[in-house]
Amino acid sequence: MTIGCVNGSANRADQVFLILKIGGSVFSDKERDRHVDQEAIRGFARLVAELSRRAPGRIALVVGGGSFGHGAVRHLHADDRVGALKLTEAAFAQKWIWTEALRDEGAPAVPLQLTAMCTLDRDGPVFSGAVLERVLALGLLPVLSGDCLIATDGALRVYGSDRVPQLLMGMLAAPARVVALTDVPGIIDRSADDSVLREVDPDDPREALERVWKTSAGDATQGMEGKLQALLECAHLGAECVVTKGDPTVESLMFLYDEPDDWPAAIGFTRIKPSSPDAALPPTG
Ligand SMILES: Nc1ncnc2c1ncn2[C@@H]1O[C@H](COP(=O)(O)OP(=O)(O)OP(=O)(O)O)[C@@H](O)[C@H]1O
Ligand SMILES: [Mg+2]
Repeated sequence: MTIGCVNGSANRADQVFLILKIGGSVFSDKERDRHVDQEAIRGFARLVAELSRRAPGRIALVVGGGSFGHGAVRHLHADDRVGALKLTEAAFAQKWIWTEALRDEGAPAVPLQLTAMCTLDRDGPVFSGAVLERVLALGLLPVLSGDCLIATDGALRVYGSDRVPQLLMGMLAAPARVVALTDVPGIIDRSADDSVLREVDPDDPREALERVWKTSAGDATQGMEGKLQALLECAHLGAECVVTKGDPTVESLMFLYDEPDDWPAAIGFTRIKPSSPDAALPPTG
């Protein structure tokens, strides 16, 4: 079964499936313990509720790790096979905070535990989409996040929020647009007056990867590099991907349903267009 079929309407919200990842950096301080900025979450909840009202069943929300997520896995020992279980509790506690804020704004938010929908097999994650399909078919708003995944040897492995959108690709009929809101307006080129790279070629992302700088030790999912790698995977699965700055005080985010070229001129972004169908994911690292 597929979801998000185009229904022939001319409105752009009916032509894409929006996966909105809100990075922890815009609603949480990673350096603090289990911290969220409630006012920022309230602001984003208002904006996401509007998006969900416009296109019920055509939007999924992924919330980033923030201090809840990164804090739960920061001091894991490599030989601790089940230590990542703490992430399930922390990620769910944070999803619940978001769920309450979204419901206060009238959005039919349902938090979903990734550990119960996805395993980590030898060739990578295997996602079971039945629950998510039901949630979307009913016009509800799924609230997803990174989590720990059960590997074939029984160990629990950390799976970051940046890599959640790619799990949904196989079940979407409408073209996916993955929008990653973070604390920067895109991939910044420090060697060119901090300008923002407008386009990344998914088949040759070396220039963009070279622009990425190392993140703080407290970041468990490699900051912008991890985000870019994950979005490249999505682009190779057919999605259009955008990195842009998240601001909970803006009037509306409805423009996210439009083509990025039609977004308000003041919005900076980096876009990764879908890869050509026969291109292989280039080696990175
Ligand atoms: N070339 C670059 N351009 C822009 N930001 C970069 C670049 N290289 C590294 N970064 C870092 O990436 C950070 C954004 O990624 P980060 O993982 O911290 O945020 P997030 O994903 O929104 O939050 P979370 O990981 O909590 O979900 C920026 O604050 C910046 O410090
Ligand atoms: Mg991150």
